[in-house]
Amino acid sequence: MSENTSLLNRARTLDAEDPLAGYRARFEGHDDPDIVAYLDGNSLGRPLTDTLQRLESFVREQWAGRLIRGWDEGWLGLPEQVGDLIGRVAIGAAAGQCTVADSTSVLLYKLARAAVAARPDRTEIVIDRDNFPTDRFIMEGIAAERGLQLRWVDLQYDGGATAAEVAAVVGPQTALVVLSHVAYRSGHLADIPAITAVVHDAGALVLWDLSHSVGSVPAELDQWNVDYATGCSYKYLNGGPGAPAWAYVAQRHLADFQQPIQGWLGSADPFGMGSDYEPAPGIRRLVSGTPPIIGMLAMQDMLALIGEVGMPAVRAKSIALTSFAIEAVEELMSGTGVVVSSPRDPQERGSHITIDHPAFRDLVPELWAKGVIPDYRNPAGIRLGLSPLSTSFEETYLGILQIAESLPRS
Ligand SMILES: Cc1ncc(COP(=O)(O)O)c(C=O)c1O
Repeated sequence: MSENTSLLNRARTLDAEDPLAGYRARFEGHDDPDIVAYLDGNSLGRPLTDTLQRLESFVREQWAGRLIRGWDEGWLGLPEQVGDLIGRVAIGAAAGQCTVADSTSVLLYKLARAAVAARPDRTEIVIDRDNFPTDRFIMEGIAAERGLQLRWVDLQYDGGATAAEVAAVVGPQTALVVLSHVAYRSGHLADIPAITAVVHDAGALVLWDLSHSVGSVPAELDQWNVDYATGCSYKYLNGGPGAPAWAYVAQRHLADFQQPIQGWLGSADPFGMGSDYEPAPGIRRLVSGTPPIIGMLAMQDMLALIGEVGMPAVRAKSIALTSFAIEAVEELMSGTGVVVSSPRDPQERGSHITIDHPAFRDLVPELWAKGVIPDYRNPAGIRLGLSPLSTSFEETYLGILQIAESLPRS
């Protein structure tokens, strides 16, 4: 590879001056020589070394040691305990409003069904056409099930939802608006407080998908007056493959919150084995069945680390990384036809950027084979996901250099 010495030196200087640089060594595999650049922590975060110990000790001491007694000794309370921890360290939610439960897809369904039930006289769900497929598909399903209309919003390819665009489509028929905090492709960061206010002015409710922001961009859900939110925990919360998602229901909605999958563990008295369903009084009513305890282990280590570092420092590193990545793309890929399809203003983007080129679809398997691991998103994008606590500037440089070198040149 033909190195760009000045950019490499700049990456090394940024690493040397980075107050969070030392945290990278706490992640398992950070020194794996076969991984040149891991640029997909926005899809699947790396495991912390602490997690090895936690998983082993759980199996030995808790599962094998406590057996069925473990449920009474703490496992049953774990979804709310971890939910409160997420609320405290990552999303600005006071205790009692968050729980860990199903996949993000299932939680989107439960929250949206509860939201439309809370606006029975209204007929529309607003969602953007560029939202993540599961968000769109689930809202389509709910619209069909409940006889509602979907109102689609078209957004800029390299941007995302703005308050003005949302204001133009919400009205007296809007029951619910479903949007992403950070857009999965462009990385656009939506202004949650401004958009939430617009939705509320129309008398509607809002459900935010924080999958691509939680753990990398601070949120203040209570302060921003959000109604409902959910997000993945295997991305920047490093919960591991298939780790369960979390959901937030604002305190003011809990008493009337009606979710559609009424299971025994969300009922008021699960072990009463009663004849009729009565929902649990708090956030536990969002739960349906047995909580995925093993899936909730790894995220606790990342949440502890985020708590130690603090979200403002995480965000500052994230901005520095995405800014450096754009600089490197511009320098190393000029004249190749590569386009940056993410906001240029760092205040308007999350922790990943997308670059587009028609050759990228075929290039990504080749890059993976060389240990450079971003991901591909249609129609022509490579996403560079920069996980603030586990990604270095040098790694970012090496990955972008490899992509540049692999591009066909005329
Ligand atoms: C923005 C967004 N929402 C929802 C999901 C779906 O999450 P799950 O597969 O856990 O249901 C994803 C998955 O990547 C996502 O990126």
